[in-house]
Formats: sequence, structure tokens, C-alpha cells
Amino acid sequence: MPPMRLAILLSGRGSNFRAIHDAIERRELNAEIILVFSNRPDVAGISTAESLGLRAEVLDHRNYRTRAGHEADLSKILEEVCPDYLVLAGYMRLLSPAFVERYRNRVLNIHPALLPSFPGVDAQAQALAYGVKVSGCTVHLVDESLDGGPVVVQREVPVHDDDTVATLSDRILEQEHRAYVEALQKLSGTWRIEGRRVVFAEEEKAPARFL
Ligand code: GRF
Repeated sequence: MPPMRLAILLSGRGSNFRAIHDAIERRELNAEIILVFSNRPDVAGISTAESLGLRAEVLDHRNYRTRAGHEADLSKILEEVCPDYLVLAGYMRLLSPAFVERYRNRVLNIHPALLPSFPGVDAQAQALAYGVKVSGCTVHLVDESLDGGPVVVQREVPVHDDDTVATLSDRILEQEHRAYVEALQKLSGTWRIEGRRVVFAEEEKAPARFL
């Protein structure tokens, strides 16, 4: 199988991008990062990409009058690099329905909560405020809804009584790094969507564990 071609879209730190990169280096993931894109200049994720010798592109959304204009220029770059998957890793821009349609089932996002709980911003703070005992992260396909597309992988973490947003976020982030690699590993095989479910062919072949 040829390596999956990944375009990473980020807006900041880029630790999920780094985790995916490192998994590729360790040969745990048969993929290559063909683009790291940011809508914000001067972010750590772009410096990391440059220092790793990866193609890095920035289109500052503040220089565009419309979302469509920004996405049109992003699409031109994507057409040049032909990604299999667009990997949103802390990309803080909503994608328009037209963009989602164009890349249907090829855009992934990671969210720091167990969806459908706590979509949107400040998911860790929402989880603490609600008082849940378990939270985690979700890798999902992106559709037109906010954090509502089909789930690919979820990983859970405990929520402790003395947690702050910072401590809970750190615990979740550790699992995010694993979840994204696991999701991409799974998506490198054969899969399909049934209703809201992402079904992986490999798992269907495996005998049920209790047999
Ligand atoms: C992560 O918590 C992710 O779940 C959220 O944004 C954060 C990005 O972190 N969507 P990083 O830039 O990958 O370090």
C-alpha cells in the first residue's frame, strides 16, 4: 500500500501534528505529511513543520473578506498536494458546507471530549463544570455540524475531584496523541459508513472476543 497522504490543518501549538509525525517516523503509521497549513502566522505548529523540512503554508484568514475566499486559496494549495485526508489538529476555523462537501469523508477532527458530550469550545471546562467522572477525546469525520460527524476513535480518561482545566486538558491531550494515530491507522485500511457508524473491514473479520 502506498503511504496515505496527509494534509495537517492547524492554528496553534501543533502537538497532535507532532505526534502523528513521530508515529510515521517510528513506522507505526504508513503515511506522509505532505502539507502543514495554518490560518494563523507565527504559530508553533508552523515553526515545527519548517524545522522538520515539511511543506508549510500560511494563509492568514484576517486578510480575507470572506470564508469562501480563504477556502478557495486553501483549496488551490490542496489541489497541488493531493491529500488523501485533511487532518484538523487544533484548526480553529469552521469549514463551509461547500468545503465539507468537496472533501466529504476525507476531513478528520479531534475534539477534547467524548462526543456528543461537550461540543464546541472549552470542552474540558464544560466537562468540569458538568461534574462528569469520565471524559476523553474523539476523532471524528467532519460534516456540516459542529463536532457532530461520525466517530472514528474515542479514548477515555478519568476526571479527578481536584482537576483544573489545565490538569484535565493535559491528561486528555496525552490520549489525543494516541487516538489520532490509531484513527489514521484504522482509516488506512478498508472502511465504510453505515448510517452514523464508521465500520472497519479488519474488525469485521476478527472473531468476537468472547467466542
Ligand atoms: C487539542 O486539544 C484538540 O483536541 C483541540 O485543539 C487542541 C490542539 O492542540 N481541537 P495541539 O495544537 O494539537 O497541541
